Amino acid sequence: MGKATVAVGLQFGDEGKGKIIDCLSEEYDYVARFYGGANAGHTVSFDGKTFKLNLIPSGIFNPKAYNFLCSGMVIDPEKFTDEIIDLQKKNISIERLRISARAHIIMPWHKIIDAAKDAALGKQAIGTTGRGIGPCYADKASRIGIRVGELLDVKRLTEHIEWCYKLKEKEISLFENAKLPPLAQIIDDFKKHACNLSSFIADTEEKLRRALKNDNKKILLEGAQGAMIDIDNGTYPFVTSSSATSAGACVGAGLPPTAIDEIYGIAKAYITRVGNGPFVTELNDEIGETLRKNGNEFGTTTGRPRRCGWFDVPLARYTAELNGVTGIILTKLDVLTGISPIKVATAYRRERMILPVLSPMHPLEECRPFYEEFEGWKEPIANVDSWDKLPPQAQRYVEELEKLIGFPIIAVATGPDRKAIIERR
Ligand code: GDP
Ligand code: IMO
Ligand code: MG
Repeated sequence: MGKATVAVGLQFGDEGKGKIIDCLSEEYDYVARFYGGANAGHTVSFDGKTFKLNLIPSGIFNPKAYNFLCSGMVIDPEKFTDEIIDLQKKNISIERLRISARAHIIMPWHKIIDAAKDAALGKQAIGTTGRGIGPCYADKASRIGIRVGELLDVKRLTEHIEWCYKLKEKEISLFENAKLPPLAQIIDDFKKHACNLSSFIADTEEKLRRALKNDNKKILLEGAQGAMIDIDNGTYPFVTSSSATSAGACVGAGLPPTAIDEIYGIAKAYITRVGNGPFVTELNDEIGETLRKNGNEFGTTTGRPRRCGWFDVPLARYTAELNGVTGIILTKLDVLTGISPIKVATAYRRERMILPVLSPMHPLEECRPFYEEFEGWKEPIANVDSWDKLPPQAQRYVEELEKLIGFPIIAVATGPDRKAIIERR
């Protein structure tokens, strides 16, 4: 029996999952994304080249691996086509790329409603990526969604689009200045999407189960977003609309929980957030600016500046436990170079209470950080690939974080490049 590894984000997303999946993918036969859509932005760098992926798994650079977009995902057909054209231009093989027939399709009305709703929320706006994610998952839950498999039967697809269009016209009329494109144009576009996508459509869930059961293969499940913006366990309502945890990996890829053996949690050596919502250790000062500049903290998907702050231990402990991680991969340690002291939130304060854990009984908006300080280092550590070459202060920072979180840090990344990684076990 083969085994599956899950790799998920332990913070608010953008932890460096793309880079880590690319580093790991060489050892795997299948790389599968299980939730989310083009709200994700995963960056992969090697041989002086950088790729930005929104839908396609970051294992695509291993030509021997199958890369699947599984049933839990929401697929924007236009975005998918643009991404494959771009990869082909750069000589990356897409021969082993497949999309689940069960995945849902982002329709033009989803993007229109996403933007109009967030604008109408005013001060309560979530700050979504505008990629139609929430409205598409809402239609999935209310059982009117259009699925990728329907692209194989254009007559049925057209009927489905026609009756959905009538419903969505009514919904969109509630918003000022929002308007649907003509029905005929949408149907025409979808005839083209059907041609472009049909050869990629498969029962990816069945293929993954067979690969484990009959062929003893290895599967890497690539998380998108991060546990703190998970729909059930994150900072609701400032979350995405799908599962971003290891448990979600099984649901979104059609695998049983017994298939999973390793669970890697990916965390930055500090923390960032895009969009609105509570952020206990946020730095609205020069240090925050330095992290943003040195870490190039601008959204891969929307280009928005990321909010930056110190590492948050109660948050990391919560998400490491929630995901049941077997190891943490700490990224972007190099970005902390030159900053001293480095602070780490080890507990929260709320009124007169000290809170060692994160809990919905104590809204994060009302929690203040309780900091410990660590001595920084000046020596550049970009692209360092062995533990011994790290300055003692950097080693101590990693070791102390490991103790405070209570989970092993099994690898440390020191740059965007594939080779900038230190293994610790
Ligand atoms: P993801 O959404 O989790 O895949 O992360 P993103 O790709 O959105 O953002 C992470 C950014 O940090 C990307 O620009 C990566 O190239 C970069 N990155 C990843 N790991 C490291 C690292 O260890 N050091 C530095 N300096 N950059 C990194
Ligand atoms: P990766 O996979 C960071 C955030 C958005 C917004 C909230 C809801 O690159 O780590 P949505 O468009 O999903 O309805 O937006 O979630 N968000 C992300 N932030 N990284 C991501 O993905 C994100 N995907 C969604 O900024 O606050
Ligand atoms: Mg990202």
